[in-house]
Amino acid sequence: MRKQGRDRWRELLADLSQRRVHLTWASLLAVVTATCMMVLAVTGILLVTVYQPSSALVTYDGVYGPLAGARVSEAFDSVMTISLETAGGLLVRQAHHWAALVMPASLIMQLLATFFSGGFRRPRQAGWLLLVALFVLVLLAGWSGYALPDDMLSGTGLRIVQGVTLAIPVVGSWASMWLFGGEFPGKIIEHLYAIHLLVPVSITAVLVAAAVFWWRTGPTVPVRAAATGSTGIRLWPDAALKALGMSAMTTAVLVLLGALATITPVWAYGPSDPGNVGAGSQPDWYMGFLDGALRLVPSGWETEWLGATWTFAVLVPLLVVGAWFVALTVYPFLESWVMGDAVDHHVLERPRNAPVRTGVGVAGALVYGVLWGAASADIVATRFHVSFESVITVLQVTLVVGPPVAFGLTRRIALGLQRKDREIAIHGHETGRIVRTLEGGYVEIHAPVDPAEGRLLTTVPVGAVHTRTDQEGRLSAGRRLRGLLGSRFAEGYVRPVDGPLVTATSARRVAWPGGSRQSRR
Ligand code: HEM
Repeated sequence: MRKQGRDRWRELLADLSQRRVHLTWASLLAVVTATCMMVLAVTGILLVTVYQPSSALVTYDGVYGPLAGARVSEAFDSVMTISLETAGGLLVRQAHHWAALVMPASLIMQLLATFFSGGFRRPRQAGWLLLVALFVLVLLAGWSGYALPDDMLSGTGLRIVQGVTLAIPVVGSWASMWLFGGEFPGKIIEHLYAIHLLVPVSITAVLVAAAVFWWRTGPTVPVRAAATGSTGIRLWPDAALKALGMSAMTTAVLVLLGALATITPVWAYGPSDPGNVGAGSQPDWYMGFLDGALRLVPSGWETEWLGATWTFAVLVPLLVVGAWFVALTVYPFLESWVMGDAVDHHVLERPRNAPVRTGVGVAGALVYGVLWGAASADIVATRFHVSFESVITVLQVTLVVGPPVAFGLTRRIALGLQRKDREIAIHGHETGRIVRTLEGGYVEIHAPVDPAEGRLLTTVPVGAVHTRTDQEGRLSAGRRLRGLLGSRFAEGYVRPVDGPLVTATSARRVAWPGGSRQSRR
């Protein structure tokens, strides 16, 4: 029996060592994300043993003198006990919170790396959906956890959530009563605790699904590896040990942060109080874009209709953020539809070779960045001694004007880089060596590109589809739109090199008696 088990292990390891993978930014970040989740699960389970998810009021009689005799919730009281009276409690709490801050950062970088390298194209579109779902779930987990200590900071955040929920037309009051379980703060701690424990289960399920999906579709190939013909490294033991090392380093950093960097000092903030708001209250960084969206709506955006007040101050931000998430989710499908792309892609792309996608990505990141920046508008205003209104006005203008400008600029830069690649592919690298010829002219010596670099520089991007009429020669509205968008994508490519590459050292004429500037290969 034991021998059979050992044989199975050996077979599995042999199978793993047959598989080869490439190390990409996305795979490195996936290890960081998974490690954060492990740290969150371990520290979270330890916290559960002491934390009391209850909003019932008690009198604080712990070791922290300034709060002696204060009426606090049981939740706040237990977090004070974890922080100041439980051996290792503060370390565990802070490591939990730091992991919760790093996880969305690593996920966002994973989304960016996947987006800009086209890692979401067929057959990995489902992988992209899992990544977006993971991002949303992590935001939900972080938000629900942030509120659990029931301190002044979390109370302020919850007051905003209640205001937003109430402002949703028609269903707002009902939704607020359902979420809070009555008048503020109601039973919100109890409700959020249930959410906070359920969401990590979904996160784990999505992580497992993503791993299975990755196993089935196989690894992506970085464009440089494809150009050099590299087959990557063995999954076992090479890649597995590297991942283990990265995971150990991430854990060490999180534990060190937990030990050395104070985060959410609840004793200094004090217990939540529905009648008060802490000055300079900030959400955790990853929720900033939602808070910022609320701040950017011009004042007075509301109307009376059907006997009710419709507040756009909440509806518009909800719509903008909702539209942003929908765009993030459907982009891969939209791009493959526009491009008429029905083939599988395993080799990643250089962002410059997909100028429209890169432009869209930068524009989308700018929208997120502006919303995020708006969450700190009050801090910016006080630190830089400018008025809050002027900071908001600048951000409002940037939100409207910025994305198209960012798109155009990025596209131009990508095209410029493609032209530079083409130039190098044709003429080779400049060496800075100017040689005088027998005729008295001067030429610059150009070093040839090696075959692998040549392949990298001349990778031909997939062209866009052309509009096609049906059998009766009609062009449907869908096809017309597709053709229009497709032509925009097609404009984004510099024609690749036609002729053979430079294979021998070449010279480029830089000066000639008479002043002409010609080149020769
Ligand atoms: C098995 C998984 C998890 C368990 C059992 C768990 C449990 C807990 C408990 C009991 C608390 C309240 C204690 C306290 O605030 O000190 C807490 C707080 C928190 N949790 Fe989790 N959690 C888990 C996963 C997560 C995840 C995935 C995230 C976010 C990505 C997260 C973010 C937070 C945050 C931000 C806090 C507030 C920490 C603080 O007090 O400073 N948790 N968690």
